[in-house]
Amino acid sequence: MELQGASILIAGGTGGLGSRLARRLVELGANVTVVSRSAAAVSEVTTVTADLRLPSECERAVREAVAAHGRLDGVIHAAGVVAFGGLDETSVDTVEDLFMTNTFLPIFLTKAALEHIAEGGTVMTISGVVAEQPMAGMAAYSASKAALAAFSTAIRRELRRKRITVIDARPGHTETGLADHPIAGTAPSFKEGHDPDRVVARLIEAIVAGETDLPADAF
Ligand SMILES: NC(=O)c1ccc[n+]([C@@H]2O[C@H](COP(=O)([O-])OP(=O)(O)OC[C@H]3O[C@@H](n4cnc5c(N)ncnc54)[C@H](OP(=O)(O)O)[C@@H]3O)[C@@H](O)[C@H]2O)c1
Repeated sequence: MELQGASILIAGGTGGLGSRLARRLVELGANVTVVSRSAAAVSEVTTVTADLRLPSECERAVREAVAAHGRLDGVIHAAGVVAFGGLDETSVDTVEDLFMTNTFLPIFLTKAALEHIAEGGTVMTISGVVAEQPMAGMAAYSASKAALAAFSTAIRRELRRKRITVIDARPGHTETGLADHPIAGTAPSFKEGHDPDRVVARLIEAIVAGETDLPADAF
């Protein structure tokens, strides 16, 4: 995909990966819209404050990106939440929020975005290594991400004829700080994770090259 002049919406564009993706994509000439619950105006990107767990807010975010840049060429799903702890200590509310944010949100937002994304466009999900290697103490998170990876694979097949590229990326633990603000539980001691700038560079390389799958060992 050609990034110069492309209109790209980043869900979770204020997060550790999302904000770095936004910065780099702007440097490469893309028109970027960042969306999150805490998005505040910053120069060079369009910001939309929205809770994307609501389908109507997904539709509004897409409308605002199209209004700002006249088109939509890509969506990057970098919104997500994590929780830690055994299933016995994981509440129903936590399970629901993990699936709402990590699974339903990208499905709702992809559905809204596909009303606008034309031939040659891109959808990227960032499911993570847990979609390949589900982890004890992160059962519901792993399940929400494995479901996202399955969604990504299925729509890749569905959208092939429209020449829309769908990429699922499954990086391992990355030093963005995600593990320091779980919605429940406390992170175990992980060994040093990936450098977020290197992960972002690999994600952008995949978008430019039209790759469709970035397994954990691609990082
Ligand atoms: N870091 C890792 O180790 C790692 C590894 C593999 C995969 N991933 C995945 O990569 C994605 C980005 O991770 P990260 O490390 O950048 O996490 P992060 O720094 O916590 O960023 C998460 C982003 O999602 C946004 N968000 C959360 N709930 C939202 C909602 N309901 N509506 C709109 N935006 C929402 C957050 O903003 P607000 O809270 O302001 O809404 C924030 O911008 C996540 O899906 C994560 O699971 C991360």
